Amino acid sequence: MFRVFPDPSSIAEYVSAILIAKIQSKPDTVLGLATGGTMEPIYARFVAQARQSKLDVSRLTSFNLDEYIGLSPDHPKSYAAYMREHLFQHLAFDAARLHLPDGLAPDLPAHCKAYATRLRASGGVDLQLLGVGGNGHIGFNEPGTAFDCPCHVVELAEQTRIDNSRFFAEGSIVPASAITMGMAEIMEAREILLVATGESKAKIVARWYQQGVTEAIPFTVLKRHPRAMVILDEAAASLLPDDARQPRMLVSG
Ligand code: GLP
Repeated sequence: MFRVFPDPSSIAEYVSAILIAKIQSKPDTVLGLATGGTMEPIYARFVAQARQSKLDVSRLTSFNLDEYIGLSPDHPKSYAAYMREHLFQHLAFDAARLHLPDGLAPDLPAHCKAYATRLRASGGVDLQLLGVGGNGHIGFNEPGTAFDCPCHVVELAEQTRIDNSRFFAEGSIVPASAITMGMAEIMEAREILLVATGESKAKIVARWYQQGVTEAIPFTVLKRHPRAMVILDEAAASLLPDDARQPRMLVSG
C-alpha cells in the first residue's frame, strides 16, 4: 500500500521507470497527470530517461487532473503552462492527445461533463499520478468532497490557496476556484501512484495512515483501490508510527 524511499530523487527514478515500462508495453497508454512541486523531479527524470531510451510517446494520451478557473492556457501560472514547461515541450507528444480542463470555458458545468465523457471515451486512465495537498486533497478535491463526486468546479480551500501562493508572484492573487477531475474519475483509474515528499506532508500522511477511509481526508479513499500505491520520502514518512515502518516496507535507492 505504501513505500518509503530515501529522497525525492530516488522516487523520481522509481516512478519514471514505471512510466517508461508502461508506455513501452502499451504505447497508447492513457495517463492521468498531476501538477505541483512534487511532480517536477519526476517529470524531469522521465524526460531524461525517455530521451535516452528513445521512447515513442506519440500514441500516448493524457488527461490532467485540474486547472484554475480564469487562467488561460497561456497564463504562466496555468497548469497548461506547467505541463508544457515540465513535460510536453520536451518530447514528441501528439498535442491532440494531451487534455487539460479549460479554465476559460464559458459553461463550466457542461465543460466538466464533457471532460469526464472524453476521458471515458478514451478508454479510461491506465495509470494515474497524484500528488497530495497539505490538507489531503487530490486533484483539487478538497476535504469533504463526496467519494462519488464526478469532475466538477470547486472553491479552493484557504489552506490550498496559501500553499499554492508560492507558485504565484508576490502580490498576485491565487485563483479562488478550479475545475478538477472528481474522486469518481480518479478512482476509476486502473492503477494509481500517489507521491508525497517533504516535511510539509508528514502530518497529513500520518493522519492518512491512522484514520480509516474518510471524506475529511480525500486521499484515504485510495485504501479502497485495488492497485493504488502511496510513495513517500523519508521526510513525508517521518511522523508515521515506528511499527508502520517495518524493513519490508522500506525500499532503498
Ligand atoms: C495542488 C494540485 C494537486 C497537487 C497538490 C500538491 O493544489 N492541484 O494536484 O497534488 O497541490 O502540490 P505540491 O506537489 O506542490 O505539494
